[in-house]
Amino acid sequence: MRLYKVSLLFIILSFANVCVPSFLDLKKKKDDNNMLLLALALSQGSGWVWNLPPGFPVPTVPSENPMSQAKVDLGRFLFYDKKLSADESMSCSSCHFQRLAFSDGKATPSGITAEAHPRNAQHLSNAAYHPRLTWSNSLLKTLEQQARVPMFSVAPPELGLANDDYLGKLKSNSTYQKLFSAAFGNGDSAVTEQNVRFALASFQRTMISGYSPYDKATNGNRSAMSASATRGASVFNGEVAECFHCHGGFNFTDTTLHTKQTSEEFAYHNNGTHNNAFYDALPLNKQGLKEVTLVASDQGKFRAPSLRNVGLTFPYMHDGSIMCDDSANPDHPTGIASGATLETCARNALGKVIDQYTTGGAGTPKHTSIDTTLIRPFSLQPSEKADLINFLLALTDSEFVNDSKFSSPF
Ligand code: HEC
Ligand code: HEC
Repeated sequence: MRLYKVSLLFIILSFANVCVPSFLDLKKKKDDNNMLLLALALSQGSGWVWNLPPGFPVPTVPSENPMSQAKVDLGRFLFYDKKLSADESMSCSSCHFQRLAFSDGKATPSGITAEAHPRNAQHLSNAAYHPRLTWSNSLLKTLEQQARVPMFSVAPPELGLANDDYLGKLKSNSTYQKLFSAAFGNGDSAVTEQNVRFALASFQRTMISGYSPYDKATNGNRSAMSASATRGASVFNGEVAECFHCHGGFNFTDTTLHTKQTSEEFAYHNNGTHNNAFYDALPLNKQGLKEVTLVASDQGKFRAPSLRNVGLTFPYMHDGSIMCDDSANPDHPTGIASGATLETCARNALGKVIDQYTTGGAGTPKHTSIDTTLIRPFSLQPSEKADLINFLLALTDSEFVNDSKFSSPF
């Protein structure tokens, strides 16, 4: 258990003990009820205690949706419940698998129709710290807002909700009656679209990953990371490869917000995944930040993804265009035949990512909106490349992907 919760039962019991010496006295019973309400309020609001990995800052939580264990519990059910899709065929978890740090292993997923999403499904480790959500939608600032997209989007549909039928299904379910009452107060009026999104956001804020070999080594257990991975950290943080400029900090991205920051930090970069000609041939919704700003030089710009659990989040890049060879892919017949694993695939695909960086980006000529002070050709010795890959693989947090707090409650 990594996240400490103030147990509602514990608070209620302690209040009951302190406040109600005699259970026979009716007036005292009323006091007791008041105490229970107070305890409920406490547990819904400021009573939340984060039990964060060492060195992790406290996430910023929107004031209108304070953390509570009851919301987290409800959000976990909703995240895994297919009642949240129009035809009850999909849930959030259909594109966000815990074993892959809540990514899905596909280049681009489809929702309830066959139409593919224009972008790759992101992992959700430490999403609590992103002041901008998704690959390139600079308008989505909170998890509460972002949840609207998979629930209601039409181009393409993801969960495809088009009316309030799903709320009716939740209202008539006795488990949800209890969960919504505990989280948002009694009655059908608690079962609203907003409260669904608020609970989903609260659950996702608990998805914190900070116990990888890298973290253990950083916090004193040097042997948790191999010598090669330790050398790889120097490559990553060096001025030749420049990785840390965009993937720096505790969350391995330059887009962060937490309570120790005075303001949010966010940036969009073109890291050279494709050149101008490639994007020019695509519809606007595949051109990155330009889709939102309509500024030509925002073509090909994306939020630098957090590299936490990057050993599990292939295919890489916004369009999943960098993937391992079939022979390294455990989901491909030739990969199965050759005994491929998640690690063989990640090693192979990360090698391709690094090759893209050492050549200063894909395609010729290179994209004109690349920041060439950071993305330009450089060379690494084969041993340095191997070290860098081992470092990236040391960001995989096996406790996170196996933690039963985040698994399906069904
Ligand atoms: C059909 C597959 C699919 C389903 C279903 C789905 N997602 Fe996603 N998710 C994606 C894709 C694709 C992206 C990237 C979106 C983009 O860049 O526009 C994403 C991105 C996200 C992000 C942004 C992460 C980040 O790093 O900014 C969050 C949070 C998220 N999804 C949560 C959810 C929740 C909550 C649900 C259920 C209500 C859900 N998703 C359902 C595919 C899906
Ligand atoms: C100029 C900023 C910048 C620099 C420098 C940079 N990156 Fe990136 N990185 C990005 C952006 C932006 C993306 C997403 C691009 C896309 O989707 O097309 C990305 C994507 C990635 C991905 C794919 C992750 C995923 O889940 O899909 C990996 C791995 C990665 N970078 C590793 C590195 C390494 C290793 C270095 C150093 C050699 C590096 N990056 C340097 C900005 C940068």
